[in-house]
Amino acid sequence: MSDRPADTVVLLGVTGGIAAYKAVEVSSRLRRAGAEVHVIMTAAATRLVTPLTFGSITGQPVYTDLLQEPRREAVEHIALARRAHLLLIAPATADVIGKLAAGIADDFLTTEALAVTCPVLVCPAMNADMYAHRAVQRNLQTLRDLGYLVLEPDHGRLATGAVGPGRLPDPEAIVARAMALLAGHGQDLAGVPILVTAGGTREPIDPVRFISNHSSGKMGFALAAAARDRGAKVTLVTAPATVSPPPGVEVVPVQTAQEMYDAVLERFADVRVVLKAAAVADYRVARPAPGKLKKGQAPTTLELELNPDILAELGHRKGRQVLVGFAAETGNPVAEALRKLRRKGLDLIVANDVSDPDSGFGADTNRVWICGPGDAVEELPLLGKREVADRVLDRVVSLL
Ligand code: PMT
Repeated sequence: MSDRPADTVVLLGVTGGIAAYKAVEVSSRLRRAGAEVHVIMTAAATRLVTPLTFGSITGQPVYTDLLQEPRREAVEHIALARRAHLLLIAPATADVIGKLAAGIADDFLTTEALAVTCPVLVCPAMNADMYAHRAVQRNLQTLRDLGYLVLEPDHGRLATGAVGPGRLPDPEAIVARAMALLAGHGQDLAGVPILVTAGGTREPIDPVRFISNHSSGKMGFALAAAARDRGAKVTLVTAPATVSPPPGVEVVPVQTAQEMYDAVLERFADVRVVLKAAAVADYRVARPAPGKLKKGQAPTTLELELNPDILAELGHRKGRQVLVGFAAETGNPVAEALRKLRRKGLDLIVANDVSDPDSGFGADTNRVWICGPGDAVEELPLLGKREVADRVLDRVVSLL
């Protein structure tokens, strides 16, 4: 996490959604990143998490009611608004989103939202049907038009058991976005067309069997979400993955390396950046069986043939695009990655040691070396994949 000087002031607005408990972790992570955190809770939020919890974590008074004792809060809210570098509202219920869109100021949080001049990052979280409602979508659009930043909710299982968009992103993703805004690269990829690949390709043996790998899609999806949050126009070409792709990006599903090759090459001329986190099978079965192979009839050996190397082809055709590859290694990650960087004509390559259980396939974290341009190597500590994604994008921005 990019540390901030101690005088960075973040106002964390917590509203009465079931995800309010996640705001505790958000406040703790912001504190650990060096921010001075002031929590403002709506009345409903105080019924889900106690102000004392936030007060203990942040070491600051928690603001709840504009007019309640201590009355100094009524005056303090203006002073606080002036000091703030970011107002982060997580979770933001449909109710508070509606009030912000209408300019209503009937409690400490909504009043503060009108008083601040810093960026405001709103993180909606609610039931999927509520989130899809036209009134909520209209209000969110109004917020965007007013200059608020909206962190799209995750797609997943909600507290009600329903599955859909509406889940508050993980605290790590929220804090990564907040830190990016504080670092001044809020929308530093605004309008940039970026293509991300993710997942693990599947090479058929017969109609029911395939050769693949352990990619969960998490690294590629984190890149897509981070690029989206920084304003990029993201196309995500994804092979099968175990997690849902982030909302707010164009998703192009593929199965095989050849399909990924076709999808990527078709779009290459229109993009400015390619981030290739997909685990692409180097080989495919030369002649997949047209029908299911029966026990006893199946060959004991499979004849394989080489798949096209997508990145190498992109390196060959490269114009102004910034090309970023990933290298999944089980030994000498940096040396191997640098070799691939040169061979495939890349600007950067991100090496990860996939034999480390905390890194690479399936893990939520990754320990990477960002290699390039040339022989330059930047080693990063073990970070969440979202944080890795933002660090890679920082480097992309400097190359753009
Ligand atoms: O999905 P996760 O579970 O989060 O795991 C993340 C990851 C381990 C898959 C990811 O961090 C990663 O390392 N991705 C690259 C995996 C890979 O295919 O590595 P490679 O060293 O074999 O290939 C090097 C680069 O060439 C990669 O960018 C790959 O996308 C690309 N390639 C490879 C073969 C091929 N035929 N075409 C390609 O474009």
